[in-house]
Amino acid sequence: MPAMPFTATAAHLALTNHFAASRRGQMRDLFAQNPARAQEFSLEAAGLFLDYSKNRIDSETVRLLLALARECRLEQQRDAMFAGERINTTEGRAVLHTALRAPRGQCQELDGCDINADIHAVLDRMHDFSNRIRDGIWLGCTGQPITDIVNIGIGGSDLGPKMACQALRAHGHPRLTPHFVSNADGHDLGALLPRLNSATTLFVIASKTFTTAETMMNAQTARAWFLQQHPHLDELKKHFVAVSTNAEAVQSFGIAPENMFPFWDWVGGRYSLWSAIGLPLMLAIGFEGFTQLLAGAHALDQHFREAPLERNMPALLALVGIWNRNYFNDASLSISPYHQDLKYFPAYLQQLEMESNGKQVTCDGMPLEAATCPIIWGDVGTNGQHAYFQLLHQGTDIIPVDFIAALKPSHGLPGHHTALLANCFAQSEALMLGKNAEEARRELQAESKSAQAIEALLPHKIFHGNRPSNTILMDELSPANLGALVALYEHKTFVQGVIWGVNSFDQWGVEFGKVLARQIHAELAGASASKQHDSSTNGLIARARAAYSS
Ligand code: F6P
Repeated sequence: MPAMPFTATAAHLALTNHFAASRRGQMRDLFAQNPARAQEFSLEAAGLFLDYSKNRIDSETVRLLLALARECRLEQQRDAMFAGERINTTEGRAVLHTALRAPRGQCQELDGCDINADIHAVLDRMHDFSNRIRDGIWLGCTGQPITDIVNIGIGGSDLGPKMACQALRAHGHPRLTPHFVSNADGHDLGALLPRLNSATTLFVIASKTFTTAETMMNAQTARAWFLQQHPHLDELKKHFVAVSTNAEAVQSFGIAPENMFPFWDWVGGRYSLWSAIGLPLMLAIGFEGFTQLLAGAHALDQHFREAPLERNMPALLALVGIWNRNYFNDASLSISPYHQDLKYFPAYLQQLEMESNGKQVTCDGMPLEAATCPIIWGDVGTNGQHAYFQLLHQGTDIIPVDFIAALKPSHGLPGHHTALLANCFAQSEALMLGKNAEEARRELQAESKSAQAIEALLPHKIFHGNRPSNTILMDELSPANLGALVALYEHKTFVQGVIWGVNSFDQWGVEFGKVLARQIHAELAGASASKQHDSSTNGLIARARAAYSS
């Protein structure tokens, strides 16, 4: 029985009517009418604080959005995920990244087996390995300790550990430098290899399938580079380990089983930071730090499972996003971390949200009437203020923003952090408040501008405001708080997928381009006669081939 699309629910009809009646409301008026507004629309959970009051909502909006969630059976779907049901219906898989951060001994049944023991057995192996690397017990082929960790992977086998290593670099090991290579473009790996000492470098080949073209190409190139300098095959095992679900492919590559850290098909790539894919992070911050990351995510999991939807942070963050996307038709969401060490967080969320919910049919294969995932993009503040905030403030599109900040820095430079936070808070206030013509005119008059100059400038100085944002705060950017933040967005993504009725855990859309690329690659390499493409693609191939032969 196909699930009912959310657009057929009674709650959607009520929300549509509510939208029509309230869409012209101004947030500045809502704040003026209710001094306690911020308290009403904010909450704390697992070390995070969410202020969602700077949205175009009132208590009726939230009530109706919660009714929508319930009519879409969110609580039942959530419980099904945690119970290990095969909710990834097109691949027939469970979705149990949450089990990866459950404490040792907390039973998680899957197909009649308790997977908790398997999960912690891998964590124990990672623990032993990372201690040996960090303590200089594991030595390279010339007897020196490891200094550089090179993760070779792409997508979820790159973005999560890369983001987390950057976010927690203050907790990093003094001797170990993590590097991340992902692109098939040789400029990526080619820029790094000359800077490495092969005798003190450990390569982590990270790939759930161990078939991804970019990763396999980079891995083979790294292997060849290493063997050029250390020709004895048995020296490879001191410098190459693998993270994968595909033991056979790993062994074929030449990495011994004892150097492989496994994970499982019920872990989605973009949800795999908590698995052995997180090995570079454990090498950088240690087992204790990694355990704190897991604990932070687990705390958020417990909140998501137990808190009533009315006080449920992932649910509310998701539902406000639904209100912006499906009622206000806002086409994108800008992620604005006001923390330099979260500079890769927008890119991480791009895969998490857009690869999860960038879908056009429901789980049952029915075409979707309503819009799904917005475009996720962004950069750190304050830099964004000097790049695209002009559009956020005075552009023709309204783009919701998620501001993320830590109240305490990990640096000791005086003055910087208060300036950073002041900008973060000011931007969300300015986006909400705006500046009307009367206020702008008064400002221009105070600058002793002539009447003519004021009339000319006035239209350019008006800010319509009423531009929504969320602000997420944490005390400090610690492993536990990062774990909770990532889990928050994982569950927000899940909630929105439930409302839209899509499968958030497959990614069939990435396959078509890969197939065409293999054909064109063969043509460019001259291994295959040129296939008749469209005139554009034929022309592009011809230009490339001419460039190669010149
Ligand atoms: O982008 C498609 C995808 O399959 C992602 O879902 C995945 O994270 C990435 O490619 C890498 O896949 P693998 O870890 O199997 O190399």
